Amino acid sequence: QTIYLKDYTPYGFVVEAVHLTFTLDPDATRVKSRIAFAPNPDATDRTFFLHGEDLTLLSARIDGAEVTPSLTEAGLTCDVPDGPFTWEAEVEIAPDANTALEGLYMSDGMYCTQCEAEGFRKITYYPDRPDVMGVFTVRIEGDLPVLLSNGNPQQAGEGWAEWHDPWPKPAYLFALVAGDLVAHSDQFTTASGRDVALNLWVRPGDEGKCAFGMQALKKSMRWDEEVYGREYDLDVFNIVAVDDFNMGAMENKGLNIFNSAAVLASPETSTDANFERIEAIIAHEYFHNWTGNRITCRDWFQLCLKEGLTVFRDSEFTADMRSAPVKRISDVIDLRARQFPEDQGPLSHPVRPESFQEINNFYTATIYEKGAEVIGMLKRLVGDEAYAKALALYFDRHDGQACTIEDWLAVFADVTGRDLAQFKRWYSQAGTPRLSVNEEWDAEAGRYTLSFHQHTPPTPGQPDKAPQVLPIAVGLLNANGDEVVETTLLEMTEAEQSFTFEGLTGRPVPSILRGFSAPVVLDRDPGPEERAFLLAHDTDPFNRWEAGRQLARESLLAQITKGAAPDAAYLDGIATLVRDDTLDPAFRALMLGTPTQSEMAQVLHERGTVPDPDAIHAAAEALAEAKALRLAPIFDALAMACHVEGAYAPDAEQSGKRALGSAVLSLQTRRDGGVTARAQFESADNMTLQLAALTCLVRAGQDAEALAAFEEQWRHDRLVMDKWFAMQIAATAPDNALPRAEALTAHPAFDMKNPNRFRAVLGAFAMNHAGFHRADGKGYDFVADWLVKLDAKNPQTTARMCAPFQTWRRYDAGRQEKMRAALQRIADTPSLSRDTTEMVSRMLQG
Ligand code: ARG
Ligand code: ZN
Repeated sequence: QTIYLKDYTPYGFVVEAVHLTFTLDPDATRVKSRIAFAPNPDATDRTFFLHGEDLTLLSARIDGAEVTPSLTEAGLTCDVPDGPFTWEAEVEIAPDANTALEGLYMSDGMYCTQCEAEGFRKITYYPDRPDVMGVFTVRIEGDLPVLLSNGNPQQAGEGWAEWHDPWPKPAYLFALVAGDLVAHSDQFTTASGRDVALNLWVRPGDEGKCAFGMQALKKSMRWDEEVYGREYDLDVFNIVAVDDFNMGAMENKGLNIFNSAAVLASPETSTDANFERIEAIIAHEYFHNWTGNRITCRDWFQLCLKEGLTVFRDSEFTADMRSAPVKRISDVIDLRARQFPEDQGPLSHPVRPESFQEINNFYTATIYEKGAEVIGMLKRLVGDEAYAKALALYFDRHDGQACTIEDWLAVFADVTGRDLAQFKRWYSQAGTPRLSVNEEWDAEAGRYTLSFHQHTPPTPGQPDKAPQVLPIAVGLLNANGDEVVETTLLEMTEAEQSFTFEGLTGRPVPSILRGFSAPVVLDRDPGPEERAFLLAHDTDPFNRWEAGRQLARESLLAQITKGAAPDAAYLDGIATLVRDDTLDPAFRALMLGTPTQSEMAQVLHERGTVPDPDAIHAAAEALAEAKALRLAPIFDALAMACHVEGAYAPDAEQSGKRALGSAVLSLQTRRDGGVTARAQFESADNMTLQLAALTCLVRAGQDAEALAAFEEQWRHDRLVMDKWFAMQIAATAPDNALPRAEALTAHPAFDMKNPNRFRAVLGAFAMNHAGFHRADGKGYDFVADWLVKLDAKNPQTTARMCAPFQTWRRYDAGRQEKMRAALQRIADTPSLSRDTTEMVSRMLQG
């Protein structure tokens, strides 16, 4: 069944107050609800429908009198009085049997919830839609030491606790946690002087992994006050770490629930990258308190209203806390790796979709990351000051409301007087625009003209695309590498449009799309010389990195399609750059990186060539070998530049040095047979160095002893063992990936019911590009078999993990047929979930 944006109608009733009482039991939890409803003056349809799934209804009353509602799979309807009335019900649910991890479920003896998007209907009968907001009071009865829900704590006693959340909220923000937990506590005083108690709740034993998360929370709270003028609004802020969780984390009001992998950290067990990600996710969930909770979404089609904006805000936060250019480059790497394939394949959908079958399938890179890019463009177009004014108006005008993209754009239109009708296409048109450029130089007039052409290829359901508003940041350099025109924002609105620069004394070298000012594919091949020039001279760090990236891409392409040798201009350029001690080591580490093999498959596909995974792998190896050879003379100098003084800290400075060190180590391993990596593995006193060394040994095929030692050292730590599972599959040689992944699914610590562990094996296998795309198709079958098994238990994670198949039409006929057959086999599975059915059928059709 498909749901359409155009069919939106308001709910017939408003919720005035909600009282819930939970009597916890793993097999038979009782949930009593008392909800005050009143007719909604803005609605015409007065059908009283409550969502409810997998509930056993024990009793129902309206204004105290027993009623017999008509029940369906999806919920119930009932006759109700004309005016306000009170609905009371009691239902029974079985959290321990809930392996879907949606609604109320159990994770290793602890009760927890995940309600976004539509999980509350698995807890009790309720109008489970984001535009219905109510004030919740919750009583929890259970034989567990810690009983938590949203809002502020009220009375509590032995085996019970009461909570009251004064802020009206949709049901998707409801949360309950009960377990044997310990708190890492702190406190925060808001700008206006409200004292807030902060707690990070974890299992006994994990207390040592809380300090960093708590600091990140306090930094986020301060940052949102300083940058967006947003203060926290309750007396407590609780975060809980849960081992079994489908996603990263969830912004439930006053009670954020986190995948333990997204919050627990210590130097011994977490990498620098983990620390950075944790800081960003804590910020993201905290920022949702305003962009998501105080102002929520009218319906799930508006998901990007809160997600795109909150991702944008957390990126700004990370850029402020760490290095802005490094964050921007990392975000673009991620966008190209995850969003571009989605936007250019069968799952392509607009930032604001117009229909869906299962909303959980739309928590995508397009909604989140492209959604954030759209906000970045808007900010670039209107400028920082107008952006700040528009946001202030947004908070002022819409606090307490459930809003739409129209509301969002209206504050920008009202503040700037701009007509944003065309800009709005970014929300409705799917697909990645392609931008091409022609240059003209009139030496006599000193005039330089850039003529752009934009075109967005068709996507499923959208054969024709209209031109979009593209903010194109451009700078011009002269032949000496000096900047003669500083970064200028060109606003492209037509399919074809020219921009002229006057008064130049010589032909400039353009630096186009600085900062990746619009999420497009720039089709331009200026040749290796100009790229090498920009690599050496561009003042825009993003484009400087991009020049190196392009050289690497072109080298790999020529290697793959023409059997060329690795490009010397690229190697020389990189060698000069990484030696430059005036540059941030983190930036140099990014410069040393090369496109992933799946990125190369994407690039080949964009250029109309069928990617051959084995040839891509061979080319990547050859380029890495050549780089190792080229840089060997400076390994020692680079190692010096990476030297860290003092105790481990996961800050930008130290992380950057370690990132450069790891990049160098992986090249060094190709030259010294793993001697340096083995020494680092043995002496490492933090996970960043230990895992980097182990990864090098896995790549070198010298990993047997180190893998065993690592397992021995860390078998008690679930999160570290996830790394152990994932890394040895992702980094091993393609031939070895399948046997290894198969063997690891038989490992006693493999647990398909834990999403982190399942992803560590199956997700990592799909990341081994040539291993997954084995010509014999056995990689596809292996993943499909496990997806079928998991679907019966956890549809959400299964559906998400279908993504590696989305590129199936890119490959050669043999692989295509094998991938299609694997997808078809999943599709044909009896009683396949709605989630997975939607994903595989879109992939097969699109
Ligand atoms: N709102 C959460 C976040 O962005 C994600 C929750 C998604 N949950 C889901 N079942 N799709 O932080
Ligand atoms: Zn979010």
